[in-house]
Amino acid sequence: MMGGGRALPVRLGVNIDHVATLRQARGEFDPDPLFAAQLARLAGADQIVLHVREDRRHANETDLRRLRETSSLPVNLEMALSPEMELLALSHRPERVTLVPEKRQERTTEGGLVLDEAFLSRLRPFAARCRESGIRVSLFMDPDPGMIARAGGTGVDQVELHTGPYARAFGGEDEEKALDELVRAAEAIHAMGMAVAAGHGLTLFNLPAILGLPWLSEVNIGHSIVGRAVLLGMREAVGEIRTLLLPNAPGQRP
Ligand code: PXP
Repeated sequence: MMGGGRALPVRLGVNIDHVATLRQARGEFDPDPLFAAQLARLAGADQIVLHVREDRRHANETDLRRLRETSSLPVNLEMALSPEMELLALSHRPERVTLVPEKRQERTTEGGLVLDEAFLSRLRPFAARCRESGIRVSLFMDPDPGMIARAGGTGVDQVELHTGPYARAFGGEDEEKALDELVRAAEAIHAMGMAVAAGHGLTLFNLPAILGLPWLSEVNIGHSIVGRAVLLGMREAVGEIRTLLLPNAPGQRP
């Protein structure tokens, strides 16, 4: 099944991490990622995605707690598989956890999970504890059918395909190869009875081809949405200040 024959629309997860990145640049309260979550909901987002990293460089547990308290949208918590993050997930019970590999030095998630024996032996009991708490688990993976095959029987219900390499290849001679790999991986995920999601590096321009992936049910997008929101909002934000600077503008001190 290619995307054109899809019966349901693809769900949109909006990742608000980089609103928190802007906030952290000042270390105060603004811009508040929660407002971004509310606006994303009004604009049609289906879920809010938040990555709480070990180094808390953008979102933190307070954001997660406030999001759980105030947002009516499902929350997809991206996190590394560690005892600290498991505790966080089980205490805040997001609708979904997406497990990602995490390296301290990386700018953003650089690759998919490596499902070696050590990881699998931690994943199975984690997935079981999540299931008991009503949390669904997704794995962020490269489009490698051999690696994806190892997700079978672990108790996860979804694989999110890492579209970063496709996004980098977009418009170049390797684009088609990157897309083919994603198509084959999506077929493999579906054949194993799991849902297919995709994310990382997706933009207004490279998304349409991704929507042709077979069995795709969800995309998660952050950086390009937050980046465009900053640029699209610039005229309005400058205009507000400009208006205030006019002689005799309301609100000016005498
Ligand atoms: N999905 C996963 C698993 C991610 O780690 C990220 C980045 O945090 C995204 C989606 C969103 O990627 P981007 O910010 O490039 O849209």
